[in-house]
Amino acid sequence: MKLTVHPAARALSGRVTPPGDKSVSHRAAIFGGLAEGTTHIEGFLEAEDTLATLGAMSSLGARVERDGGRVTIVGGRLRATSKPLDMGNSGTGIRLLAGALCGHPDLFGEQVELTGDASLSRRPMQRIIEPLGAMGARIGSRDGRAPLVIEAQPLKPVNRLLKVASAQVKSAILLAGLNAAGETRVVEPGVSRDHTERLLPAFGVAVERGDCEARLNGPARLKAARITVPGDLSSAAFMIAAAALVPGSRVDIGPVGVNPTRDGFLRIVEQMAAGAVQVYPIADASAGAEPVAMLEISSPPQLVGSRIPDEWVPLAIDEFPLVMAMAAAAQGETVISGAGELRVKESDRLAVMSRQLRRLGVDVEERPDGAVVRGGRVRGGRVESEGDHRIAMSLAILALVADGPVEIDGAEWIRTSYPDFARHLESLGAQLQWR
Ligand code: S3P
Repeated sequence: MKLTVHPAARALSGRVTPPGDKSVSHRAAIFGGLAEGTTHIEGFLEAEDTLATLGAMSSLGARVERDGGRVTIVGGRLRATSKPLDMGNSGTGIRLLAGALCGHPDLFGEQVELTGDASLSRRPMQRIIEPLGAMGARIGSRDGRAPLVIEAQPLKPVNRLLKVASAQVKSAILLAGLNAAGETRVVEPGVSRDHTERLLPAFGVAVERGDCEARLNGPARLKAARITVPGDLSSAAFMIAAAALVPGSRVDIGPVGVNPTRDGFLRIVEQMAAGAVQVYPIADASAGAEPVAMLEISSPPQLVGSRIPDEWVPLAIDEFPLVMAMAAAAQGETVISGAGELRVKESDRLAVMSRQLRRLGVDVEERPDGAVVRGGRVRGGRVESEGDHRIAMSLAILALVADGPVEIDGAEWIRTSYPDFARHLESLGAQLQWR
């Protein structure tokens, strides 16, 4: 499908309630399926990625009922299924579930196959196959990629130092550790999002934490919980950027999760537009121990280019297509480095974003581990999501300040994470058309 976004004719205003957090929704679905008893989830993200994970838990024997974003899961007893579980487009879904299943005693002697779409089938899975293998897991793959065939085995705990900060790899190992007798420990070279460490205790499993380190003791059974999923900062980021880009805008966004291991985008916006975002923490709204806030955004007189510190990369890992889009409309140069991981997301985001921005006349230099974007005039024109939801949404936001309409091909991918994206942008005063 094609989405046409027109240059904003006037300032944006209004309030947006972002959808439920994708990372927390995946975890709530998986943990709910593992946990004995009835788990209640409020604010579950109703998007293709997270519904695929919920569907997988249901195929594995959990009893799932859903009314919009309100989900109940009766879990605690898994059974194998001969039908491959389709994890769609989601790296989080497939990697975390592989960790949770590979040593699950209910599945000993059985096989479970995890598949996904073409993009997911290109993404590297060796990064989980190898550490889970060191715990005793047997995971077949096609050359280190999905489909993954898991033969559940008894596991031993592991003490693992990761090469790259990755919440998905850390979480896969910790979830496998639930089924290994003794302490499983993961140490990372930098901080990655800590939703697993925050949510497991809500399901009755203690997680010890240090600087860039998480530990748990197995075997541990999860107990059902009541979870409220916070709003997704990675989705809210698009509305924040829209309000920051369109002159004169004033927009309220929230409630939204502002977990400090996830708030790199807010730090980057502060660097590019000091004072544009005010954060008002909401007391007592913690959900699975996630801090939540209301945000107030006023467009700054001018966005300025910025050098992004490498240590912020994992804290804003999903927001770099959007940062590149904002940089295209900022004054001066924005330099991104230490971000080679962007090449193994839903697309090679450094290559795809560089290619698509150039189609709108933007000066971009792609580098092996980053990019340099020189801000200036942005032309209207035709671009392509290349199968990546965040590329489509980032280009749609940039279109608000282009010289003419921007047509985005492959915009249907937005449904994987933020089905209400176009409606939310329209509610702020933007003009969009689907075809
Ligand atoms: C996620 C972790 C990140 C992020 C992804 C969600 C998670 O991936 O890009 O969208 O929920 O744990 P990596 O851990 O591979 O960096």
